[in-house]
Amino acid sequence: MASKVMAVERVLHMNGGVGETSYANNSLIQRKVLMRVRPILEESIKKMYCTNASTCLKVADLGCSSGPNAFLVASNVIDIVNETSRRLKIETPTFQFFLNDLFGNDFNSIFQSLPEFYYTLKQDTTCLINAMPGTFYGTLFPSNSIHFFHSSYSLHWLSQVPDLLSKEAKLSDDDKGNIYVTSTSPPSYAKQFKEDFTLFLRSRSRELVPGGGMLLAFIGRYDTSQNITAAGLFRMILNDMVLENLIEETKLEHFNVPVYVATADEVKEIIKEEGSFSVERLESIETSWDGSSLDDKGYESFKDDNERGKFVARYLRAVFEPLLKAHFGEGIVEEVFLRFQNKVVQLLPKLVYPTLVISLTKIA
Ligand SMILES: C[S@@+](CC[C@H](N)C(=O)[O-])C[C@H]1O[C@@H](n2cnc3c(N)ncnc32)[C@H](O)[C@@H]1O
Repeated sequence: MASKVMAVERVLHMNGGVGETSYANNSLIQRKVLMRVRPILEESIKKMYCTNASTCLKVADLGCSSGPNAFLVASNVIDIVNETSRRLKIETPTFQFFLNDLFGNDFNSIFQSLPEFYYTLKQDTTCLINAMPGTFYGTLFPSNSIHFFHSSYSLHWLSQVPDLLSKEAKLSDDDKGNIYVTSTSPPSYAKQFKEDFTLFLRSRSRELVPGGGMLLAFIGRYDTSQNITAAGLFRMILNDMVLENLIEETKLEHFNVPVYVATADEVKEIIKEEGSFSVERLESIETSWDGSSLDDKGYESFKDDNERGKFVARYLRAVFEPLLKAHFGEGIVEEVFLRFQNKVVQLLPKLVYPTLVISLTKIA
């Protein structure tokens, strides 16, 4: 068991650096979500800060990755707190931010951009950025030490691939080319999500100060319709490549993406059962794979569906390339993402999913 956990922790990371295929240059979708969630962030931060005005506010962003989004959260929080302090006529606090991600994350790029970020801050703002590498499924901080946790687009990643050797979890032949996630998808994924999310909540509730808050946004699924996921689309493409003898079948059989997309009800139920948090808000934000051509400061505009397909394939490459490379080798990567782009163009109108946004307060 322990060795499998270690494997996901070691292999999972987004494409580092600042090159063409990097996460830093291909995270506009996630940026747009951060912008859309900002009013809820504002509400949660204000609620937490009005009961916990401290001289040093400690905030952690869990699953920060690298690139501009890692700093966007910090600057949003700073703006909201400074504004609230002015309104309450209290001194603005010192901010201590902890940027967390797995060990393979490109923390070096973050450190290199720090001077630029510090430069953007107003002179009267003191902000200290720290890195905290490690899995958020477990202890990351001392008890009662953090005021606010934020996590965006990270909690659909599981701590490990569930035990697919068990009979119930094995993919049937029909499933191999299936792009949909349905209620009949392997139940061990739902079980793993429940275990992971429960551990996440328990760990955060220990680490938060009384009255501390948390804002989580991650990919979910609708409970009525069939949902197409990136992992499902990869499986279909890879299955085609097996049929064309471009990939060995046994390689595909052992390729499992450690991602689970939960329904809002599943998430609500787990939070209730775990018992440490009250839910202030739980919303589903409909999100299209192409960010419905973005803007609202998500930028980019596309001339046609081919461009949209290219855009989607590029940002999903920044997320999934390391996993695919580690399992199948570098040779197949270009071909997989070319096919991925074409599939996206065909399926575009169906490619929507809910982003689950949850605002929580620790029950004292
Ligand atoms: C798609 S990125 C999101 C990055 C950023 N929050 C954003 O909104 O752009 C997801 C990140 O979650 C991280 N992640 C996944 N599982 C994790 C875990 N168990 N502990 C810490 N980070 C994790 C991944 O390494 C990845 O960098």
